[in-house]
Amino acid sequence: MLYINEESTHRICEERSFGQGRKVEKRKRLRHLFSRPPPRCTYCPKSCSRRSKDRLPPGPLRLPLLGSVLQIPREYPWLTFSQWAKTHGRIIYADALGQPLIVINSAEVARELLDQRSDSCGYREPFILQQYGDNWRQQRKIVAQDFSQNSITCYHSLQEKEAKKLALGILDDPSTLLRQLKLRLGTIIIRVTFGYYLKDENDRFLTSPLTAMDNFSKATAAGVWVESGNVLLPNMCSTVLEEVDRNPFHEQEDQLVWAASAVMGAGLDSNTSTLLIFFLAMTLNPAVQAKARQEIEDVIGRDMLPTIKDKGSLPYIRSIMTEILWWHPAVPLGLPHALNKDDIYEGMHLPKGSIMIANVWYMLHDPKVFPNPDEFDPVKQWLWLRAVSPDRYKNLDSEMDKVTDLVFRFGRRVCPGKFFGEATFFAIVSTVLSTCEILQTVDDKGSKIIPIVTFSSGTIIFPSALEVDIKCWSEKACEMLSRGLADII
Ligand code: HEM
Repeated sequence: MLYINEESTHRICEERSFGQGRKVEKRKRLRHLFSRPPPRCTYCPKSCSRRSKDRLPPGPLRLPLLGSVLQIPREYPWLTFSQWAKTHGRIIYADALGQPLIVINSAEVARELLDQRSDSCGYREPFILQQYGDNWRQQRKIVAQDFSQNSITCYHSLQEKEAKKLALGILDDPSTLLRQLKLRLGTIIIRVTFGYYLKDENDRFLTSPLTAMDNFSKATAAGVWVESGNVLLPNMCSTVLEEVDRNPFHEQEDQLVWAASAVMGAGLDSNTSTLLIFFLAMTLNPAVQAKARQEIEDVIGRDMLPTIKDKGSLPYIRSIMTEILWWHPAVPLGLPHALNKDDIYEGMHLPKGSIMIANVWYMLHDPKVFPNPDEFDPVKQWLWLRAVSPDRYKNLDSEMDKVTDLVFRFGRRVCPGKFFGEATFFAIVSTVLSTCEILQTVDDKGSKIIPIVTFSSGTIIFPSALEVDIKCWSEKACEMLSRGLADII
C-alpha cells in the first residue's frame, strides 16, 4: 500500500509549482501518486502553489494522524535521533500524533536557533517548564546572581569539605557510593539554597518528596538555626530575603520558592549523574587515574590536597572532567524548548508550536568530528585537531569549552549552575583521585567484574547498577581527609 503523507503531498505541491526542470523524471512517479487523491497539504492550506521557504526540514516518514510516533522510541531517543542524523541531516522534522518536533543535530544550527534567535524569535518552553515572562526572568535572576562565577567562591570551603567527607564515606564502604553521593551533593545544594545543613541521609529535607514550599518554610522559619546549631551563613534564600528586609511580597516569595526548587530539581540529579559517570569511567581506566595522581603530586605535592583554587593549574584533571561530560552527557537532549511563532531556517519552515530538541549527544559524538566517538580518553585527538595538537584538549580551556558549551548551554536556558556545578565536580574528582584508588569489584572466584556501560533512559541519565571498589591510595593522603572537617560550615 502506498501512503501519501504530508511530506509527499507537500513534495507534490512543490513539484507542481517548481519542478518544471525535473518534469520528465518525476512524471511517472507523480502519475502513480495521483492514482488516489492526495490528502490536504496542511503546510499550504490556501493553495498548492508553494514557496520553497515553506518546505519543512527532512525527517522520518509521517503517517496520517500518527505522524512519526511509531518511530520515536520511548527509551534512548537520542540514539534514534542520531541514526536519523545520518539519513536526514542536521535539522529534522518529525511529528508525534500531531505535535511537531524539530530535532537539531548540529551545534551550529542549535546556536543559531536556540541562542541567537531566542530573543527575536521568542523561543519558550513547553508547559512542563516555566514559561518565559517576568516571573521566569526574576526567578532566573535570583539563581544566576547567587551562582555567578564571582559569588560562588564563598561556597568553596563547603564543597571541599563535602568532597572529603564523600571520600571518607566511600573508603569506609564502597557499596554506599550512590547513597553517599546523594547525601554529599544534597548537603551542598540544600545548604547553599536554603542555608540548612543536612543532619544525615535520613534528614527529611532530603528524603521527603520535593515540596519546595515546605523546604522553603522550614529553612526560613525563625529558630531553625538555633535548632540545627548552625550559624546563618550566606545562602540564596537568605540573600534574597535580606534584600527585602525578610518581608517579601507574595509574588517575590513565589519567585524565590520557584528559584529554590529549580536549583534542587536541576542541580542535584545532573551533578549526581555526572559523578557516577566519573566513577564508571575510572573503573575502566586505571591508567587515567595514575596519570591524574601524578599531575596532582607534581603540582600540589604530597602534603596537601587540591583545593578548588588549584583547578587552573591541573589541566589533566580538567581534561578528565571534560571527557566525562563528553563521553556521556548527563542531559543528552538538554531540556526541550518550544517555538512560539513560525520561523524559517535555510529555506525550511519551522512551524509555530514545534518542540525543539537539541541532540547534544549526537553533537558530541558526530563521527565526522570524533574518530572514536565512544572511546573514553582525555588525551585522544579530535580529528580536526590531529594535525596541530598532540592531545585532544591541548590543555586549553578554549578546547574544553567546546564540550562544556554544548553540555550546559542553550539559549536563555543556559544552566545557571554551570560554574557552581563544575566547582563541586572538580572538588570531588580531585579529592577522590588524590586519595582513592577506584577499582573494579571481584567475584567469588577473585575475577574482576568489568562494569558494563549501560544507562537508564530519561532526561537525566544514570549508569545502571554501578559497583566499584575503593581503596586508600596512600595512608598519608587519606589522613589529610579528616583535617578541618569539624569546623562549622
Ligand atoms: C554537571 C552538572 C550539571 C549539568 C550537566 C547541568 C545541565 C543543565 C542543562 C543541560 C540545563 C538545561 C539547559 C536547556 O534548557 O537547554 C540546565 C538547566 C538548569 N540548571 Fe543545570 N546542570 C548542572 C548542574 C547544575 C547545578 C549544580 C545547578 C544549581 C546550582 C543547576 C541549576 C540549573 C537550573 C536552575 C536550570 C534551569 C534554568 C532555567 O530554567 O532557566 N544546574 N542545567
